[in-house]
Amino acid sequence: MLPDELKLKLREMISGAESPREKAIDVMFEIQELQGWMSDEAMVDAAGLLGMSPLELEELATFYDYIYRSPVGKYVIKVCDSTVCWLEGHQRVLDYISSRLGITPGETSADGLFTLLPVCCIGYCDRAPAMVINKRVFGSLTPEKIDRVLDQLAQNADFSGSE
Ligand code: FES
Repeated sequence: MLPDELKLKLREMISGAESPREKAIDVMFEIQELQGWMSDEAMVDAAGLLGMSPLELEELATFYDYIYRSPVGKYVIKVCDSTVCWLEGHQRVLDYISSRLGITPGETSADGLFTLLPVCCIGYCDRAPAMVINKRVFGSLTPEKIDRVLDQLAQNADFSGSE
């Protein structure tokens, strides 16, 4: 059950739209921002607010890599697997991160800090291979760079901007 305060905020968000459905993604992001992911319960509540069926909302959610339907870690590492990155060493990057964190794509590290996922092009093709962690983009990935980034995150260091 979504908290009343959040429901109120979502209702305000939806009321400004011509059609409630056009706010579906924003509503899911807002819920996710607070709860970390979109549980089945949250999907039902959100669908109700939007005047959609849970199935319709579910179908929409499956199109977005950034809507999580299961719990994720504090940091979601998305390694680009589109053409340019694939040619420039996507698999090497994925294998390196998998091995370092002891998880395979789709899994979350035991400490709950990292989730590893594949993602389509993130617009950093000129710096392939690339990944995005939460909202920060990293390109020209090497094992050394990956180590540096993951070490910083594990130490809870400042996390802003792209590189
Ligand atoms: S193909 Fe990987 S960022 Fe575009």
